[in-house]
Amino acid sequence: MTHTVPDRDTTLHLPPNLSVRRSYDGRSGYQVTWGQGSKREHFQTHSAELAACLATMPSSLTIEEASSRLITELGLNRDAAVDLVSDLISYGYWSPTPQPLTAGEQLWRDVEWDDALEFHMATRNMIWSHDYSGNPKVMTRYHVEHNVQPESDPPTRYTPSVQATVVLPEPAVPDVAFEQVVRERRTTRDFRDTVITLQDLSTLLAWTFKPQFPVEKPQYYTTQSYSRGTPFTAYVITGGSGSPAELEQGFGVYHYDPEHHRLGLVRQADDLDQLDALLWRQSYVNHAPVMLVVCADWPQFSWKYRFSRAYRFVYAECGAFMHTALLVGTALGLKSFQTPAIDDRRMCHTLNVKDHEVGPIYIAAFGRGR
Ligand SMILES: Cc1cc2nc3c(=O)[nH]c(=O)nc-3n(C[C@H](O)[C@H](O)[C@H](O)COP(=O)(O)O)c2cc1C
Repeated sequence: MTHTVPDRDTTLHLPPNLSVRRSYDGRSGYQVTWGQGSKREHFQTHSAELAACLATMPSSLTIEEASSRLITELGLNRDAAVDLVSDLISYGYWSPTPQPLTAGEQLWRDVEWDDALEFHMATRNMIWSHDYSGNPKVMTRYHVEHNVQPESDPPTRYTPSVQATVVLPEPAVPDVAFEQVVRERRTTRDFRDTVITLQDLSTLLAWTFKPQFPVEKPQYYTTQSYSRGTPFTAYVITGGSGSPAELEQGFGVYHYDPEHHRLGLVRQADDLDQLDALLWRQSYVNHAPVMLVVCADWPQFSWKYRFSRAYRFVYAECGAFMHTALLVGTALGLKSFQTPAIDDRRMCHTLNVKDHEVGPIYIAAFGRGR
């Protein structure tokens, strides 16, 4: 095999999404990463000098300049520096072709979406596929030929410890014409003088978060669900007034248990003054009798999809679950307001969750005019 060694005067260019991160435990050194999707590279080093050298490299320089820099900054001899340059070229840290941001990518940076752009680049163009043969636990293949089966079973449904439970009544089957539901679903921004019954909540929660199909052994939801399993977990927070008499009034925080179709009181959020404290003061929700919070169960997704691009799937799926809730709510004659504009810290504190385990993604307020 012939190997073309680039000329010493060849100009090398850094990739646009080079980053360096410390290991969290402080013991594994530094990780230098670059590249996109399946071509992403991780370079682990214990040398702070090497990590710093790679992180602070000019965006373009000649091979000769690159070698000299490694010699000066890392104390390498010439042969070792030349070898390292060659290795870094072959792993794509350096490329003889410039890789400037496109105008569209630059736009993300102009509006301060730098972090999102980095994540977007890191996770795009991944080569992966589904393979259902042999009924594998995990049917996604990273790099297509690479399918690592997890040694563990899928994570179980998230169940927090609760102080008390409220068994929900049998859910109703709203008998409303499709046309009426799709015409009537509208965002409301005024919940004054609205109420909700436990029966309403039961119907809303069951059709949205309780597996429904197949009827004999339900494991699928009303909503199309890519991840199977139990991708989302739901909370209900009672508002200032109008919430069901069976529930704690004034910011009782309940977790919905779909298996037993009951609500579990997680805590009383005495530190809340209004529901809008959870939404950066979007006051529209303030008089709503209940707020529904849909949270991603991250272990469910990450157990199954062992590549970070799957982080995107969660949001597609969550929107669909919420849409089911909104349509069921509309069929019940409830007004609704929905937003993902959540104050993460306050919401996680209120629900008593850690956002990397159970991440609040989307909320909706519901209430029926008297
Ligand atoms: C993902 C999403 C986020 C939203 N966020 C807000 C919000 O933060 N504040 C707000 O007043 N409305 C919000 N809305 C409501 C939209 O403004 C509303 O859906 C839109 O005006 C269309 O009205 P309709 O829902 O009655 O069809 C959001 C809607 C969606 C789907």
